[in-house]
Amino acid sequence: MNRKRVGVLISGRGSNMAAIVKAARNPAYPAEIVCVVSNRPDAAGLQFARDNSIAAHAIDHKQFSSREEFDSALNDYLQSQRLDIVACAGFMRIMSPVLTKAWAGRMINIHPSLLPLYKGTHTHARALADGAKVHGCSVHYVSAELDSGPVIARAEVPVLPGDTPKTLAARVLVEEHKLYPKALAMVALT
Ligand code: GAR
Repeated sequence: MNRKRVGVLISGRGSNMAAIVKAARNPAYPAEIVCVVSNRPDAAGLQFARDNSIAAHAIDHKQFSSREEFDSALNDYLQSQRLDIVACAGFMRIMSPVLTKAWAGRMINIHPSLLPLYKGTHTHARALADGAKVHGCSVHYVSAELDSGPVIARAEVPVLPGDTPKTLAARVLVEEHKLYPKALAMVALT
């Protein structure tokens, strides 16, 4: 099988990246993870990548004077890895067209809400404030507008009485870890 070459972008913990890496250990999985890149050199997920013999690379956004310069350096690295797909997994950067144009149709993201609801940040607190009974996560293609590209897959979780943003986030995260490997496999097979 010709497995798709995937790079994963992270900014921190990297638990979704780890879920993808674990899924890709199965030789039948249609994608291989060739690199993990973080805009934060201290991101915990980089160590997980190293421990799993995956190229771990940091490009510190603070070393660049503009968003476009950082995005251009990141794009250069991603291009050098000859990737088929870029998967954003807790990558907390707004992207300029330097990236969204270069990777249009080949870059996906996981977002902790049922898109198109709750784009942006603090999704769990906003769902609770609205009295939502159902919440969840989505995997979508990255487009120029934040959290607005076509949705690939979604998973729902119930909102329970007494939920706080923290308890709700934890319940959603369990579903994220199942959804992202499945959605990436779907994209890899198209
Ligand atoms: C995840 O919940 C992911 O959905 C969210 O950040 C967390 C990263 O956790 N992403 C966003 O909010 C993107 N806008 P992880 O580093 O453990 O995967």
